Amino acid sequence: MRRKIVAGNWKMNLDFQEAQDLVENIANLCEDKQPDCDIVICPPYLYLEMVTDMADDTQLFYVGAQNVNENESGAFTGEVSAKMLDSLGTNFCIVGHSERRKYFNEDNAVLAAKISKLLQYQIVPIYCVGEVLEEREANTHFDVIKKQVEEGLFHLDVADMENIVIAYEPVWAIGTGKTATPAQAEEVHKFIRTLIAEKYGEDIAAQMRILYGGSCNAKNAADLFAQPDIDGGLIGGASLKAEDFISIAVQASK
Ligand code: PGA
Repeated sequence: MRRKIVAGNWKMNLDFQEAQDLVENIANLCEDKQPDCDIVICPPYLYLEMVTDMADDTQLFYVGAQNVNENESGAFTGEVSAKMLDSLGTNFCIVGHSERRKYFNEDNAVLAAKISKLLQYQIVPIYCVGEVLEEREANTHFDVIKKQVEEGLFHLDVADMENIVIAYEPVWAIGTGKTATPAQAEEVHKFIRTLIAEKYGEDIAAQMRILYGGSCNAKNAADLFAQPDIDGGLIGGASLKAEDFISIAVQASK
């Protein structure tokens, strides 16, 4: 039985005080509702230490970064390394979010390198894949996702593959209020699990957690999470409201 994950991607939102208030509200609601899933909070880098302190104090959630540089260290002004994240106690890191692919030109090759670097420091990558609207309309989404999975992950060995989380995020559903239907999402999740099974075997595929992301909210989470291959969510907008975020986590606990 795969334990579900509900991860909140705060993106580039909130000032320090707002971030502190949000994480406190999340902790209080967790205490109250006791959701039975893995909760991950992915704040901007600047707030990682504050959120990690809170995670250490409460033991209620894990902490993730939103990005990492693929190099070990050195002259990369403005970048943050896996070693730095590890030194703060960061547990997870989002890799290849569609906004990074689109605005920062991150391709599958650089994402593969980021994933390897994170694994070297025992940080769990949450590797994002997903098609844009034109690709879905042209019915090429399975090809696109296959390529993203193969080029991003298939350099890994079996042991590393046990420490990977995948997030299927159809780009047309991110921040648009237009969610994939549970059937559309399940179809792709199942496809991804089959790809993993063909390359790494049934056992690895069966334990791999595959999250859905894209306008997932307190209203539609239950139906999405009821699908057999959907193991939780990567939540953007709705993760900025403690009540909504924890409501989603509670729905992942059933
Ligand atoms: P959204 O974002 O929930 O606001 O659609 C999801 C994501 O970008 O991970």
